[in-house]
Amino acid sequence: MLFFHSIAILFVLFHKSLGEVRTSFKILNYTGSGCPEGTISSSINLDTTALAQSFDRFPLYLGPGTIIRDHYKNCTLYANISFSEPNWQLYVNPRSMDVRGYFPMDVGTSLRVQSKYDWAGSNKMATNTFTVQGPLRDTFIRYHVDNATDNVVVSPCGGGILRTRYDAAATTTTSHPGGFDPDDPEPGIEFWTFLTSLQLSRCPT
Ligand SMILES: *[C@@H]1O[C@H](CO)[C@@H](O)[C@H](O)[C@H]1NC(C)=O
Ligand SMILES: *[C@@H]1O[C@H](CO)[C@@H](O)[C@H](O)[C@H]1NC(C)=O
Ligand SMILES: *[C@@H]1O[C@H](CO)[C@@H](O)[C@H](O)[C@H]1NC(C)=O
Ligand SMILES: *[C@@H]1O[C@H](CO)[C@@H](O)[C@H](O)[C@H]1NC(C)=O
Repeated sequence: MLFFHSIAILFVLFHKSLGEVRTSFKILNYTGSGCPEGTISSSINLDTTALAQSFDRFPLYLGPGTIIRDHYKNCTLYANISFSEPNWQLYVNPRSMDVRGYFPMDVGTSLRVQSKYDWAGSNKMATNTFTVQGPLRDTFIRYHVDNATDNVVVSPCGGGILRTRYDAAATTTTSHPGGFDPDDPEPGIEFWTFLTSLQLSRCPT
């Protein structure tokens, strides 16, 4: 009897370590030139291995009639993250991120994209940076954008407030950049998605 009871307890413990821990994720607020009200979606997947943050568009423009402000867009999001079980914590960016974006551009034009993560109360920050070179017909996809080793930030035990910052800057070396036609994109193609890796872990004892 006791034997089976112990087995049952072991099973419960084992099971919990395999994914019974549920992560609660709530966006507190977001601001920035890249994310007008009502244009983002944000979620964590069921097994807490990825954070997906999508923008309807990152409205960058380059070329005739544009001003400096059009060449750079950003967004900062705050989220409250907690767990259904005590003594867990969350690593952000342990396996870097994947990104999908939209920005048609000519030869000589390039786009620098960056994400930054930090937890409230900590001064450690993880950063991913990459550059896309034109020409680009419409969309780009980057997998495992690797910036540096140890490019990871961990939450306090029990969770915390995660700040995520994204930005994109377009630059050109040609005097007449073109190729971008903001009046005529295919419907549903303009979105940007940042998929950042996560890792749930027991707090150190
Ligand atoms: C967003 O939420 C964070 C965390 O609660 C807070 O520090 C920050 O002031 C808020 N920002 C805005 C613009 O409300
Ligand atoms: C976006 O960038 C502008 C210009 O650098 C900066 O002043 C602003 O604080 C940034 N906003 C966010 C939400 O990151
Ligand atoms: C974050 O979530 C926790 C757990 O639900 C809650 O106790 C705390 O007040 C929340 N913090 C903020 C700033 O919303
Ligand atoms: C990593 O990010 C830092 C900070 O943004 C940047 O200065 C550095 O050039 C990046 N390294 C690589 C290899 O992209």
